[in-house]
Amino acid sequence: MTQVSRRSNAEQASDGADLSGKNALVTGANTGLGQETARVLALRGAHVTMACRNRTKALAAKQEIVDSAEGKISEAQLDFLELDLNSLAAVRKSAGEFKERQRPLHLLINNAGIMIPMERRTDDGFEAHMGINHLGHFLFTNLLLDSLLLAKGARVVIVSSSAMGMATLTPQLRDLNWASRKFNGFRSYGDSKLMNLMFSNEFNKRYAGEGIVANALHPGVIATELARDQSIPFMLLGIFMVPFMKTVSRGAATSVYVATSPDYERRGGLFFSDCREKKVLQKLAQDEDACAALWQRSCQMTGIADNRS
Ligand SMILES: NC(=O)c1ccc[n+]([C@@H]2O[C@H](COP(=O)([O-])OP(=O)(O)OC[C@H]3O[C@@H](n4cnc5c(N)ncnc54)[C@H](OP(=O)(O)O)[C@@H]3O)[C@@H](O)[C@H]2O)c1
Repeated sequence: MTQVSRRSNAEQASDGADLSGKNALVTGANTGLGQETARVLALRGAHVTMACRNRTKALAAKQEIVDSAEGKISEAQLDFLELDLNSLAAVRKSAGEFKERQRPLHLLINNAGIMIPMERRTDDGFEAHMGINHLGHFLFTNLLLDSLLLAKGARVVIVSSSAMGMATLTPQLRDLNWASRKFNGFRSYGDSKLMNLMFSNEFNKRYAGEGIVANALHPGVIATELARDQSIPFMLLGIFMVPFMKTVSRGAATSVYVATSPDYERRGGLFFSDCREKKVLQKLAQDEDACAALWQRSCQMTGIADNRS
């Protein structure tokens, strides 16, 4: 493998990786970082399930990947799985459908996400950042445990964000659902991204011994569709910032690196940015009791049993 750096793109970050015979699943693979992550994992030989909420967009993205690959990626390498993280019932259905395909799952990339300024609720009544970015993925990952265990060496890669610096989470996990506080879109997005990291840490603690490691990452700042619901001034600022942002391929590099580097085959519970391990400043993410408490609360909210309590 060549040396990776903050300037590496996703292909450079996975140079030399051979994923033939491996199965990957990328959530939100129809656009942005997820599409590029799916493309490069397939380029390295993996079979990739593109788990997306919109079939038409997903199939168009699949076609784009195959058409641009000059024969290096076959249609059969890319599958579509309908996944709407806005509804726990839909998440259960998707996980069931994936399990019916009886594929061991070597790489699960929890990438899909939203960042919205307004208060919105999921079908189950959860604040949308928490519901989609954290709870939907929490449930999906837990329901796919059998498939991950079947791989006998699996990696879960969780796309978090340095926006967790804006989080308002308390050690007591007070008002996670923004029921009694004045809503703030950036702060609730930050909360959900800190939950991503806390979930990754707790998942790794629970399952690394059984051969599934979990790591979380910040991809950088990239001009994708993530800001599609933001205000016009925010968008204008974004346009001004484009020259300073990473390209999508460089943005997907850290996900691909963490998923393919031999260094992280068995090492988890880490946080990455720019294809490097980074120290996390958020105390809550290092607080084992808080991570365990978030896991338990997430079990209650998603209606699954905590099999370790
Ligand atoms: N871009 C950045 O600067 C940046 C920085 C830090 C972290 N991140 C993180 O990177 C990840 C990828 O974001 P991106 O920048 O690539 O944004 P993006 O271009 O907006 O892609 C987001 C993906 O998530 C999917 N998604 C949204 N809601 C969903 C739902 N309810 N169920 C299933 N899928 C859903 C979208 O599907 P549709 O197309 O159908 O809406 C899309 O495929 C996110 O977790 C984000 O928080 C991004």
